[in-house]
Amino acid sequence: MKHGREWSLGMAVGIALGGMIWSDSGQAAEQVSSIARGGRLYDKWFEVTGAPEPSTAHPAYPPSGGYADKAKDTWRCKECHGWDYQGKLGAYATGKHATGIVGIGRLNQGDAATVVKILKNDTHLYGDKLAEQDLSDLALFVTQGQVEMARWIDGKSKEAKGDRQRGEAVYNTICAGCHGKDGQAVQKMPPVGKVASENPWETLHKILNGEPDSKMPALRALDPQIAVDVLSYAATLPKGKPGQ
Ligand code: HEC
Ligand code: HEC
Repeated sequence: MKHGREWSLGMAVGIALGGMIWSDSGQAAEQVSSIARGGRLYDKWFEVTGAPEPSTAHPAYPPSGGYADKAKDTWRCKECHGWDYQGKLGAYATGKHATGIVGIGRLNQGDAATVVKILKNDTHLYGDKLAEQDLSDLALFVTQGQVEMARWIDGKSKEAKGDRQRGEAVYNTICAGCHGKDGQAVQKMPPVGKVASENPWETLHKILNGEPDSKMPALRALDPQIAVDVLSYAATLPKGKPGQ
C-alpha cells in the first residue's frame, strides 16, 4: 500500500516536471517526434514511408504549374502549400513553384481530426497512399508544428533573425559531422550555404524536422531560436562546390 502511494507520488511529480518542461509549447514530449515525422512527411512522404513514387501528376496540381511534368513532386505537400506554409501568399506566390493554392495556416492550432479528413478528401486523395499513423503525424504537424516563418525570416532580404555566433557553435557540433565545417561535404546536395541563403524557409523546415531519407537530426525539441541561430550561420557558409 505504502509502496503504491510513493510510486504514484513519484509519477505525479514526474508528470508535473514533464508538464513544466513542455509548458512553453504545450506539447507532450512524445508528440514532438510525431510532429517532426509529420514535417518530414510534409516534405516528401514517399521517402519517409518507402511507398512507390507516384508516377502520374496529382489531379489537384494545376497543369500550367512549373512542376506539372514532375509527377512525384506534385504529390509533396510542400509543392502546393510551400516551405513557409503560406501557399499563394508566401514565397510560392510567383515563380516556378507558383500554383495559386492556399496555405495551411488556417489549420494551425486547429483540430487534427479535421486535417485527417481533409487529407482523405477528393482534392487530396491520400487515403489509400498513407497509413493512419502517417495521416495522424501529418495532422499533428499541421495543427501543432507550423512555426511562424515571418517571425524568424525577413521575407524580403531572406535574412534569418538569429545569432550567427551562437549558430556557429551549434553548427560545428551538430551539423558539421555530416556536412563539414564549410557545408560542402554531402556531395548529393548543393552546399548548405547555398540552400540556406537561397531558401531559408526550406532550410528551417529541415533543421526543425530532419531530412526525409537520411539520419539528419530534427532540432524540434529545442527552442526554435536555436534552429534560427544555426540558419543565420549556415547562410554565411560558402555557396559554391568545394574548390569554388
Ligand atoms: C496538388 C496540390 C496539393 C497537394 C500536393 C496537397 N494539397 Fe492540401 N490543398 C490543396 C488545395 C487545392 C486545397 C484547398 C481546396 C480543398 O481543400 O479542396 C488544399 C487545402 C489544404 C488544407 C486546408 C487549408 C484551408 O485553409 O482550408 C490543408 C490543412 C492541407 N491542404 C494540407 C495538406 C497536406 C498535409 C498535404 C500533404 C500530405 C497536402 N495538403 C497536399 C492542394 C494540395
Ligand atoms: C547524420 C548526418 C547529418 C546531420 C548531423 C545533419 N545533416 Fe543535413 N543532411 C544530411 C543528408 C544526408 C541530407 C540529404 C542530402 C540529399 O539527399 O539531398 C541533408 C540535407 C540537408 C539540407 C537540405 C539540402 C537540400 O537541398 O536538399 C540542409 C539545408 C541541411 N541538411 C542542413 C543541416 C543542418 C543545418 C544541420 C545541423 C542542424 C544538419 N543538416 C545536420 C545529413 C545530415
